[in-house]
Amino acid sequence: MKDILTAPFLTEMIRTTTNMYNHGWDERNGGNISLLLTENEVSEYCDVNKVLRVIPTGFKTPELDGKYFLVTGTGKYFKNVQYNPDINLGLVKIIDEGENAELLWGFSDGGKFTSEFPTHMMSHAARLAVNPDNKVIMHCHPNNILAMTYVHSLDEKEFTRTLWQMCTECIIVFPDGVNVLKWMLCGTNEIGIATAEKMKTARLVVWAQHGLYGAGADLDEAFGLIETAEKAAEIYMKIAHLPLINTITDEQMHLLEVRFNVKAREGYLK
Ligand code: 13P
Ligand code: ZN
Repeated sequence: MKDILTAPFLTEMIRTTTNMYNHGWDERNGGNISLLLTENEVSEYCDVNKVLRVIPTGFKTPELDGKYFLVTGTGKYFKNVQYNPDINLGLVKIIDEGENAELLWGFSDGGKFTSEFPTHMMSHAARLAVNPDNKVIMHCHPNNILAMTYVHSLDEKEFTRTLWQMCTECIIVFPDGVNVLKWMLCGTNEIGIATAEKMKTARLVVWAQHGLYGAGADLDEAFGLIETAEKAAEIYMKIAHLPLINTITDEQMHLLEVRFNVKAREGYLK
């Protein structure tokens, strides 16, 4: 059995949490990530039959039965993942139609997965139905997206169009746009169900006055999505109080669609 600390999925998770902390997106224990792994990947580093403990989830996701996830721990700081990965991360296998998770590695101080586990698992199920290659659900609290939810309409089309207008690359990176959830109590099954519903039509879901979720085929893709949306929100927050003289027109966005072979969300461009 190889040392799990040398597993590419673990080193990539450490790099990503550290990078997110350094971007200022994950103060204290803010943010959480789950990464879907195959049994082949896991069994190189860990005996999948050696269950350390079984952790109840409090919800059902039968679509994920038998699937493996590397996930951040509740109350744990992204800042610290690099120093104590075995405390701050856990590797689990979903069983009993999603009602329980077998802990195979990590959470070595007796901890458990993020309080947003319902949103993570339900969003994985929703994204896998749209894209079988989806592997990552990522949550964080980026400053400018958060700020924008206090001063911009939360209408999904308006929110998306504003972000698209803030940098030329936005429509190329997230042509599916961003969906928006009005404020809800976090850490609940209810916000999980509502987020997963939004994940059916977009890979970015804003939680108003809280933060952002991104989905992707790998950690880089989910990170890059969030990074691009957050940059657009930063430009918006820099200019929102100034007279707008120029913008990216819908006609120009149509040129981008053709040049980069992307299709903007139906009905979002004139
Ligand atoms: P956890 O520490 O439980 O992951 O919660 C952090 C968070 O961002 C809640 O939305
Ligand atoms: Zn949060």
